[in-house]
Amino acid sequence: MSGGPEDARRDELLATARAAAGGAYAPYSNFHVGAALLFADGSVVTGANVENASYGLSLCAETVAVAKVLSEHQSGGLVAVAVTGGAPGAAGKGTTVTPCGRCRQVLNEVAQLGGTDPVIWCDGVEPVETTLSALLPHAFGPANLK
Ligand code: THU
Repeated sequence: MSGGPEDARRDELLATARAAAGGAYAPYSNFHVGAALLFADGSVVTGANVENASYGLSLCAETVAVAKVLSEHQSGGLVAVAVTGGAPGAAGKGTTVTPCGRCRQVLNEVAQLGGTDPVIWCDGVEPVETTLSALLPHAFGPANLK
């Protein structure tokens, strides 16, 4: 941890994701996830997981954030994503939360549209910093349909 501007940006985005986890509707898993997507213009779009009594229909935090982006946000370049989760009020204090496989694909849609490979900050007692291309190599996206 160098304490430089990149660290400050990471810590701020993680704090935003933790706050977003407070909006989770997760009565079945009791696992509250928050995601924060940072764009090149400085805008941030958040999401929280939204579960359903038909369990398989539950939406992950990252997917909710991407739905917000593509439906109401003029997306520029997606530069960073912060993901956190845990028991209510304890996001970031437990195991590292990495985006699930489906969310990697969903995030790739926004990233590829803006031509970026976002850094992914995964919160937890053992945090992970990675990139979307590392989590989803050789991704299929909008560019492949041209
Ligand atoms: N979850 C997310 O919101 N994002 C992920 O990337 C992993 C899992 C949610 C889905 C479900 O509501 C809860 O976490 C437990 O799996």
